[in-house]
Amino acid sequence: MTADGMVIRRAGADEMLALWGYSPDTAPATAVYFMKNISEGNAVFWTVEKDGDLIGELYAFFDIEEDRDFADGEGTAYLCAFRIKREYRGQGIGTLLMNTVLSELGAMGIRRVTIGVDEERNERLYRRLGFDRLVKHCHYDPCDRDPGMKPLYDEKGFRLLSKELQP
Ligand SMILES: CC(C)(COP(=O)(O)OP(=O)(O)OC[C@H]1O[C@@H](n2cnc3c(N)ncnc32)[C@H](O)[C@@H]1OP(=O)(O)O)[C@@H](O)C(=O)NCCC(=O)NCCS
Repeated sequence: MTADGMVIRRAGADEMLALWGYSPDTAPATAVYFMKNISEGNAVFWTVEKDGDLIGELYAFFDIEEDRDFADGEGTAYLCAFRIKREYRGQGIGTLLMNTVLSELGAMGIRRVTIGVDEERNERLYRRLGFDRLVKHCHYDPCDRDPGMKPLYDEKGFRLLSKELQP
């Protein structure tokens, strides 16, 4: 618990659905993909809880078979869907969430993490957080799925960055 009464903790697929505003019946492909991976143990999810509300989220996928540059099941994990509710942004909560997740992933044996970025503002944050290597430019985010469950094509594209975790 932080000084502001915030708690950063692991959460479950039902809480992910609540954060995204879906029920199991209305969940689109990407939400179904996340739920499936969380329930099978291939993804974990941390949330920020404040006064009973969930105000933030960050997910780690351990193995992404379509593209092992993202996550290889052997110590490289992919971080995605990093969000803080609008009214709480710019107060250091995202940094706190990311650092908590990185330290828990390190304790779980993860040695390297990747993250996608397409905005200069976020890139500044990620560089500050130690994502100092460019892995590659991408047009497919494997965690963003089309209705046929295939990775969605991203016209604009994004950069995949990585960070080594201290043992
Ligand atoms: C990116 C995000 C999770 C960071 O969380 P945060 O709590 O705002 O981050 P912090 O307060 O710890 O750090 C602030 C930094 O975040 C970045 N940032 C990105 N969008 C921001 C926003 N709307 N407001 C404030 N900071 C933002 C900036 O680099 C900022 O640093 P700066 O003050 O030097 O510009 C959050 O801003 C967010 O949810 N953005 C929208 C969703 C998104 O772009 N997610 C990442 C890709 S999936």
